[in-house]
Amino acid sequence: MKVVGIIGSPRRGGNTETLVERVLAGAAAAGAETQVFRLNEMNIRGCQACYYCKEHGRCRQEDDMVQIYRALLEADGIVLGSPIYMGYVTAQTKLFMDRLFAFLRPGLSSTFPPGKKFIMVYSQGGGDDREMVQGIAQRLGRILGMQVKGIAGGNGMNDLNAVKSNTALLEEAFRLGKELVV
Ligand SMILES: Cc1cc2nc3c(=O)[nH]c(=O)nc-3n(C[C@H](O)[C@H](O)[C@H](O)COP(=O)(O)O)c2cc1C
Repeated sequence: MKVVGIIGSPRRGGNTETLVERVLAGAAAAGAETQVFRLNEMNIRGCQACYYCKEHGRCRQEDDMVQIYRALLEADGIVLGSPIYMGYVTAQTKLFMDRLFAFLRPGLSSTFPPGKKFIMVYSQGGGDDREMVQGIAQRLGRILGMQVKGIAGGNGMNDLNAVKSNTALLEEAFRLGKELVV
């Protein structure tokens, strides 16, 4: 079993990274091989709306998204993590999400191998965007034929280390990680 983590936060060692790593730790404890990508440190451009993917079944851009596409195709489980910026996921995360358009045919049916398990994690400051994150997870799951196992996250996490004292949330992330595998 392979589980891939995608980190959409620019902050190294921050709350999103910690949550994604807890999910991956749970998956590893259940026997999975894990791999992590930090979007902020990769060369990934936004979708250029060229619609090349609709004719050729793959994205025309040959940037670092190529490695992520390959890992996603091989994965049994996927965890996507983002902080909330201006009421939505970060630009890095949105850019990654837009590039998943390459998995959709002209009529928007999916070429993504169905049945992969999916989790989203998030962290934020003063807001409460849980429902919005839940909506994104459900939509991605529906579009790509993934089984959404849940979301985990919360607010009050402006401090880099805030999540480290939230034992319940860390345990929830670990538990969800196991669910990506069993
Ligand atoms: C540009 C920017 C915009 C933000 N917008 C929001 C927001 O709309 N709502 C919110 O609750 N927190 C917001 N925050 C706070 C972050 O979501 C919060 O600090 C988060 O836990 C950071 O995650 P990290 O530790 O992984 O970097 C914002 C932070 C930044 C830097």
